[in-house]
Amino acid sequence: MSTREQILSKVREMPSLPLTATRVLQLVQEPDTPFSVLQREVELDATLASNVLRLANSAYFAGSGPIASVRDAIVRMGTKRLLQLVLTTSVAPLTSQPLRGYGLRAGGLLRHCAATAIGAEQLSQELHLNAPDYTYTAGLLHDIGKVVLGTYLEVDATPILELAYQEGLSFEIAEQRILGVDHTEVGATLLEAWMIPASVVDAVRWHHSPDAYPGPERLVVDLIHVADHIARVSGTSADADGLNYALSAQAVERIRMKPTTTETVVSSVLRSLDEICENLSQ
Ligand SMILES: [Fe+2]
Ligand SMILES: [Fe+2]
Repeated sequence: MSTREQILSKVREMPSLPLTATRVLQLVQEPDTPFSVLQREVELDATLASNVLRLANSAYFAGSGPIASVRDAIVRMGTKRLLQLVLTTSVAPLTSQPLRGYGLRAGGLLRHCAATAIGAEQLSQELHLNAPDYTYTAGLLHDIGKVVLGTYLEVDATPILELAYQEGLSFEIAEQRILGVDHTEVGATLLEAWMIPASVVDAVRWHHSPDAYPGPERLVVDLIHVADHIARVSGTSADADGLNYALSAQAVERIRMKPTTTETVVSSVLRSLDEICENLSQ
């Protein structure tokens, strides 16, 4: 079996998404699910319910006035936002572990992923792009493949980094050369196994190659690609692979970035990042 096949078959054996998150995901996708059923599902998992409420009341997500119950959260924020909170609190602990192989401190990847998620939403708002609700989730999950490679498979990233620097390659191309697979494909394979909606999986799979994306929902792919770049170059989040990625000029053009956009997005990210990371890593 090639390294690539070994990696992908191990990915499919990884622990599944927590049961409640999987149930909520299914319920939100069924159009006629009553609020009460969704509410009961979340409330059955006391830890999840309290995490959802804490996040719903954080400055970034909160609307007007405090949200006191799961029902409140569903009524005021809507089911799609609730799903984001559920996925966020279920998956975030994975990204807050130290990634031995990938040279990331504990919390380093969580910070990068949260900065990308907030940045993608802020880009959409700033440029009046009307991005779908799942943009935040896609941002938060975009580098989940690194968790799989660095933590579960304990892949040593040193030769990948060396190859990237020696040959001036972008990090994911060096991953492909050495492992036969990169963190985008590994992440997408895991999310597919978890039955996460295809639109989120697509954004994860194509976040380093938005120009090659063959599907119909390019906006989210472009937003995650550009927000990922902003998160890295702005110093809001750093990781071992540093700046070794290419930014697509076409993606920047497609979302019609203005000269001031980056600055505005970075200040929004900085305003919310600490609070969100604190909530997510508890
Ligand atoms: Fe990435
Ligand atoms: Fe990233």
